[in-house]
Amino acid sequence: MGGSPVAAVIPAAGSGSRMAAAVPKQFMELNGHPLLDWTLAAIARADEIGSIILVVPPGDLPHMAEKYVGNPRWPKVARAVAGGATRAESVYNGVRAAGAEWILAHDAARPFVTPALVRRTVEAALRHGAATAALPAHDTLKTRDGDFLGETLDRAAVLHIQTPQVFRAADLLAAHEKLRHEGKEWTDETSLLQQAGIKVAWVPGEAANMKITTPDDFRLAQVMAERSPFVKGPARV
Ligand code: CTP
Ligand code: MG
Repeated sequence: MGGSPVAAVIPAAGSGSRMAAAVPKQFMELNGHPLLDWTLAAIARADEIGSIILVVPPGDLPHMAEKYVGNPRWPKVARAVAGGATRAESVYNGVRAAGAEWILAHDAARPFVTPALVRRTVEAALRHGAATAALPAHDTLKTRDGDFLGETLDRAAVLHIQTPQVFRAADLLAAHEKLRHEGKEWTDETSLLQQAGIKVAWVPGEAANMKITTPDDFRLAQVMAERSPFVKGPARV
């Protein structure tokens, strides 16, 4: 890192189609605070993070910039930028705006990330070049054959990939431009970096660092938020 801190890019430009709520899920209130505020507060508490780039739906950019950038309550939020049609485009826009050597990408929809997980992921990336949080699988895993079961998979050979994901900005930009040119697609930054030939290390993620995707997830998150030691998180930033 050479003393220079890591910039966090928070993709928050999705529409939340699987949540199917009145507003995109990142703006829904979790125990009295927008879900996005929980995520920003948790990321801001990590000492490794020097600045935060918030990526928002283009139509929300003016009021999101007004709310978070230059606000003493959110001292690390340096910029807000417009997202793209896909998560990959949104992260790309954030990385281009960040102007940092190292980037930590973290989904706005994972509000229970911890400073310890940020530290683990950053340390692994600095050692190995790129790193992600991931969880070993505990359930029995099978392929699907329509309404029936297919083959049993080797559980020990698979991981659930989470964010944070930490990488060099230059690697991400080069890989994105090359693969987009080739018409390839990817769902997260580790898949992109791997397709570009970069090895990605993993560190143990956390079960509480779930991605809030469906109404069921949101109900569980509400219970967690009510009991969370981060309940005053947004106010402490
Ligand atoms: N995201 C983004 N830009 C997009 C799509 C997604 O910044 N064009 C963000 C979301 O806001 C979220 C994160 O990427 O914080 C993970 O994506 P996901 O959970 O899939 O959120 P949505 O795309 O909003 O939900 P859905 O896929 O159900 O529509
Ligand atoms: Mg999505």
